[in-house]
Amino acid sequence: MPESTRSPITLRRAVPADAAALAAQMADPSVYGMLMQLPWPTEVMWRQRLEAAATAKESAEVLLLAERDGQLLGSLGLHPHDRVRRRHAAMLGISVGAAHQGQGVGSALMQAACDYADRWAHLLRLELTVFADNARAIALYRRFGFREEGRHAAYALRDGRYVDVLSMARLNPDPPHAHRPTDGDPA
Ligand SMILES: CC(C)(COP(=O)(O)OP(=O)(O)OC[C@H]1O[C@@H](n2cnc3c(N)ncnc32)[C@H](O)[C@@H]1OP(=O)(O)O)[C@@H](O)C(=O)NCCC(=O)NCCS
Repeated sequence: MPESTRSPITLRRAVPADAAALAAQMADPSVYGMLMQLPWPTEVMWRQRLEAAATAKESAEVLLLAERDGQLLGSLGLHPHDRVRRRHAAMLGISVGAAHQGQGVGSALMQAACDYADRWAHLLRLELTVFADNARAIALYRRFGFREEGRHAAYALRDGRYVDVLSMARLNPDPPHAHRPTDGDPA
C-alpha cells in the first residue's frame, strides 16, 4: 500500500495488556538477535516487566509503542540509571517488527524519545550499544545525533559467534535552563 494512503503511526506508553504483542514481536530471530534478548520470549515475562513498570514510583523510564490501526509496529525503551550522579543518563533500546522495518517506524520512535528526553525527562545523555555490523541501526542513531564512543570486542554471543558492539551516545543539543527575568521583562 502506498505510504500516503496508510493510517498514521501513533505512539503511546506500553501497558501490561501489550505483553502478548511484545512477546510475539521479540520472538523473531531478526529482532531479538540484534538486541540482548533471548530466544522464546513469553507473554508472562513481558507481563511481569510491564506490571513492574506500571506500579513503580514515577521515573523517567518509559516503554513507548508505535502502532498503526491498533497493530504493534515497534517499541522503544528508555531506562534511566539509578545512581544519583548518573540520573541525567538513560540507556536506549529499540526494535521494529521485521514486517514493518524501513517504513519510518524507527525514526518516529527515535524522534519521540529524543523530544521526551530533551524537553520533559531531565535526560541530558542517551546511551546505547549496537552490534558493529548493524548498519541500519547505526545510520538511524547517527541521524538523531548519536556519536560513536568506543568499540567493545566480542561483547555478546549472537547465534554462535562473539560479536563486537559500538557504544554510542547523544547529548541534548540544547539543554534546558532557567529563565531569569531582567528589569525590562514583563512580570
Ligand atoms: C534498526 C531499526 C530499529 C530501524 O527501524 P526502521 O523502522 O527500520 O527505521 P526507519 O525506517 O525509520 O529508518 C531506517 C533508515 O535506515 C536506512 N537504511 C536502511 N538499511 C540501511 C543500511 N543497510 N545501511 C544504512 N542505512 C540503512 C533507511 O534508508 C532509513 O533511512 P531514511 O529514513 O533516511 O531513508 C529496525 O530495523 C529494527 O528494529 N531492527 C531489528 C532490531 C534492531 O536492530 N534494533 C536495534 C538494536 S541496537
